[in-house]
Amino acid sequence: MDKQIDQVILYVKKELENAESGHDWFHIERVYRTALTIAKEEGEVNLTVVKLIALLHDIADSKFHDGDESIGPLKARKLLEQLKFESDVIDHVVLGIENISFKGGNFNQTFRSDELDIVQDADRLDALGAIGIARTFNYGGFKNNVIYDPSIDPVFGMTKEAYKNHKGTSVNHFYEKLLKLKDLMNTKTGLKLAEGRHRYMENFLAQFYTEWEGEA
Ligand code: ADP
Ligand code: NI
Repeated sequence: MDKQIDQVILYVKKELENAESGHDWFHIERVYRTALTIAKEEGEVNLTVVKLIALLHDIADSKFHDGDESIGPLKARKLLEQLKFESDVIDHVVLGIENISFKGGNFNQTFRSDELDIVQDADRLDALGAIGIARTFNYGGFKNNVIYDPSIDPVFGMTKEAYKNHKGTSVNHFYEKLLKLKDLMNTKTGLKLAEGRHRYMENFLAQFYTEWEGEA
């Protein structure tokens, strides 16, 4: 029915063909579905904008493009112009994908909207819970990081300089980012979902350390 959105879906699938499996088309599909679930509960929003931010938020992820943040937004703008979306929709979506990411907390978000709030929650939710755990160890493996090292984990108290050169472990990523996300949720619905997934990760970590010590 929605031909323009279908075109965007085709483009994103193609664009992410060789992506790492935590940032592939299925990540986009989960974020898209979760965003629509949240949107249903959260009053009136522009669903086209929600869908487009969800679909386009990880094309040319800077993690996989030498830290270049400008490629994704430019590609998105070009595509949406070709597909003849309205210019205010295009501007909103581009601002959305420029401002969605957590970037280790070093990023100053300069734009927000109800639509972006929803997709940002959906993207963060995909970093939590069972899926979040799977993605974390997959990304760690992709980066050749170790699963866990009790002599360096967690890296609390490290100087900024040492931290920059520090090759984090996958378990450390829970402390560095994942366990902080619950308190950053924008929407009530997002927070409710995040609480369940947060608890699931805490239980996972508790079990992990118990098994590590050979105690269970
Ligand atoms: P976003 O794209 O939302 O800014 P990231 O791309 O940093 O967030 O993270 C997406 C997922 O990739 C994380 O939830 C995590 O599972 C994985 N990831 C990112 N950085 C690391 C890391 N240093 N170690 C392990 N997993 C990571
Ligand atoms: Ni994402």
